[in-house]
Amino acid sequence: MAKNIQAIRGMHDVLPGESAQWQFLETRVRDVLNRYGYEEIRMPIVEFTELFKRSIGEVTDIVEKEMYTFDDRNGDSLTLRPEGTAGCVRAAMENGLLHNQTQRLWYQGPMFRHERPQKGRYRQFHQVGVETFGLAGPDIDAELILLSARLWRELGVQGLQLQLNSLGTLQERKTYRAVLIDYFSAHADQLDEDSQRRLHSNPLRILDSKNPKMAELVAQAPSLNDHLGDQSRAHFEALCGRLDECGVEYILNPRLVRGLDYYSLTVFEWVTDELGAQGTVCAGGRYDGLVEQLGGRATPAVGFAMGLERLLAVMQAQDALPQTARADAYLVLMGEKAERAGLALAERLRDALPGLRLLTHCGGGGFKAQFKRADRSGARVALILGEDELARGQISIKYLREELPQENMAIDDLAQHLAARVQIQESSK
Ligand code: HAM
Repeated sequence: MAKNIQAIRGMHDVLPGESAQWQFLETRVRDVLNRYGYEEIRMPIVEFTELFKRSIGEVTDIVEKEMYTFDDRNGDSLTLRPEGTAGCVRAAMENGLLHNQTQRLWYQGPMFRHERPQKGRYRQFHQVGVETFGLAGPDIDAELILLSARLWRELGVQGLQLQLNSLGTLQERKTYRAVLIDYFSAHADQLDEDSQRRLHSNPLRILDSKNPKMAELVAQAPSLNDHLGDQSRAHFEALCGRLDECGVEYILNPRLVRGLDYYSLTVFEWVTDELGAQGTVCAGGRYDGLVEQLGGRATPAVGFAMGLERLLAVMQAQDALPQTARADAYLVLMGEKAERAGLALAERLRDALPGLRLLTHCGGGGFKAQFKRADRSGARVALILGEDELARGQISIKYLREELPQENMAIDDLAQHLAARVQIQESSK
């Protein structure tokens, strides 16, 4: 027999029980973004490979070894997006969103990286990303961090630590780069293979090395902070000052360099120690040079993206996800006449009570089987319509979760009765 085809390693289905949790998270996030005046943008999942090479950087893990790249039937090299910033900048430039205006945008969707799958690290994962354009000051950097801090509060996520750093300007990094190359060259014998390769192409990434054998060498390396110019320093201090004023706690981490090349000045990450090695749930920073680098007019930009799988994992670990039942009421229908009348009755109830989540029994069967399903649905009540009751214009309500007596009433009174007795959730926006 042929082997069943399975999902691709590192790419996961979101099953019915889990999708309610995803919706809860997505709805809350969208709500907070709306309240800050951010607008949604939707970009294609596939872009020209060149876009990612030119923005994320040729000598990065993502571009060197993680992209899903293929030639399409025209022979164009295309790539499944490994992140959203590059596509968002491309879309904003192409559609004239950057000319003489500011933008506060967000997007959501799957990203693809051919990494080694492990807990919190997948090959298809989902981000909500936020990007702002045309705003150069530290005020917007602070707003983005405040927005993310509010998200954690409103999602009930606790214990995330904010790490902050400044990468300075391109020019400052160039100077620092030369200093770093000198330092690491003097200790070339202690560099691992990856770092040797990066010594001249991307020495800053050596600082991000996770190799414990190099920890000491990295710890002793000269710090970029000592090579920042006055303006960069002022920007960073102003950001820190605003965060202090708003009571946001942070840790200055001079080793925070990020895995994508487009950053300048502010970079930040929200990290947790509850997810093992993959502890960064949200990360971002300023990328003032990127629009120009992609052929547009110089435009200040700053943003971040959060990994939804990681955020959900933290929420699960912290019991921050509500247990939502699938339905409020389950309509049990005994006999063919009741089955027919039931469909119409259910529609009337949905008209009268827009927030009611009502499951109508389909497929016939006896009382026992129908009640079993009613129970499994998580509904608070079963509405029982039998042929005799139908003939009398009556229906019964049986409480499935509480010790309350069964009630009988006229079908015409049911909607009113349900509205008063069954707590109907506000339908999700
Ligand atoms: P990033 O640090 O590559 O930045 O990814 C942002 C977040 O996406 C990570 O902190 C993590 O939560 C999640 N993530 C990344 N890779 C994986 C994976 N393989 N599996 C599960 N989750 C993952 C960016 O993507 C930038 N575009 C962020 C940004 C926006 N910077 C400025 N604007």
